[in-house]
Amino acid sequence: MLKKRIKIIRKRNKKTKEFGEGDVIMSKKEIIDMLNKALELEHAAYVQYLSHAEIVDGLNCEPIIARLQEIAKDEAEHQKKFRTLIGDYLFGVPTMNIAKTFPAKTIKEILEVNLKGEKEAVDFYKKILDKISNEKKDLPYEFWTLEHEIRHVIIDEQEHIAELKKLLAIN
Ligand SMILES: [Fe+2]
Ligand SMILES: [Fe+2]
Repeated sequence: MLKKRIKIIRKRNKKTKEFGEGDVIMSKKEIIDMLNKALELEHAAYVQYLSHAEIVDGLNCEPIIARLQEIAKDEAEHQKKFRTLIGDYLFGVPTMNIAKTFPAKTIKEILEVNLKGEKEAVDFYKKILDKISNEKKDLPYEFWTLEHEIRHVIIDEQEHIAELKKLLAIN
């Protein structure tokens, strides 16, 4: 239905050679797609942290298990935020898909693979911030909420990065 509408408006715009509603709808669709990709990353991060928490063992494993489970809780909150932005603010459909997950065996591998994932998430979420900043004028009643929530997710991921780096004893 949305695709059909975009097609009709684009056809009309081609005739008049004007930018119109179709472009606004298109940019909203691109933002929804990006947020859905972010939601897939959050689904993956959540199950990955919880799975990894189950396989950590050995002396002093308890604080690491607790930390991984706490981070998983944050990822669940991020999922909720992204779903709300997609559904309530942009009238899109939140995805049920999940991004690729990465197995690990040792504590070091677990921390490293999740650190890599956190960094990739931050890099991608920054791209979403850039995208919505470029489309700000077309998001008069959504921009500040989108900006606020995505910024907060980035702050959380940066905290996760700092914690994982601390556990890995790297600067
Ligand atoms: Fe997250
Ligand atoms: Fe995270």
